Amino acid sequence: MRWLILGTLLATACGGDKDTDSATAGTTAGTTPVIDTGPPPRDLTNLDVQPIVDANCGPCHMGGNVTSGLALDDIRGAIGLQSGQLPGLFMIRCEFPEQSYLLKKVKGDDDIFGQKMPSGGALTDDEIEMLEVWIAEGCTDAD
Ligand code: HEC
Repeated sequence: MRWLILGTLLATACGGDKDTDSATAGTTAGTTPVIDTGPPPRDLTNLDVQPIVDANCGPCHMGGNVTSGLALDDIRGAIGLQSGQLPGLFMIRCEFPEQSYLLKKVKGDDDIFGQKMPSGGALTDDEIEMLEVWIAEGCTDAD
């Protein structure tokens, strides 16, 4: 449902210039209870999101620093890795951002243990969204 709302907002926001876009936005916002709408795939890969990790998580989770059992030198290493803090969840569960503990930690969800990540800082909304989209779309691998 969130994606549908986001898609509607985007369509509305971008719909000013062209008549066709406005018409589409009107349709979407109006009657149709569609499930499969939303923003088009962003086609993000691990190489798009790795720089976010490199810039924000390095001192504690890279280069031999494995704080809390988590090394992020390659973010793909967090896929299917069980969280130590919440063993019922994986750090990243592809296609299920709401069940990915790493994402919950950077968002500062109510049910996390410890601090919001990165400790001592915060990701921007755009950075969080990129991680979320990459996970939601199945953790596309550039290789
Ligand atoms: C300054 C050090 C520091 C930085 C930078 C940092 N972390 Fe952490 N991280 C920690 C510490 C300490 C813990 C354990 C205590 C806690 O969770 O509050 C932790 C725990 C975690 C956990 C939980 C691990 C588990 O076992 O469930 C995740 C996920 C995590 N960090 C992700 C990140 C991500 C993603 C970034 C970058 C966006 C990041 N951290 C940046 C210090 C850091």
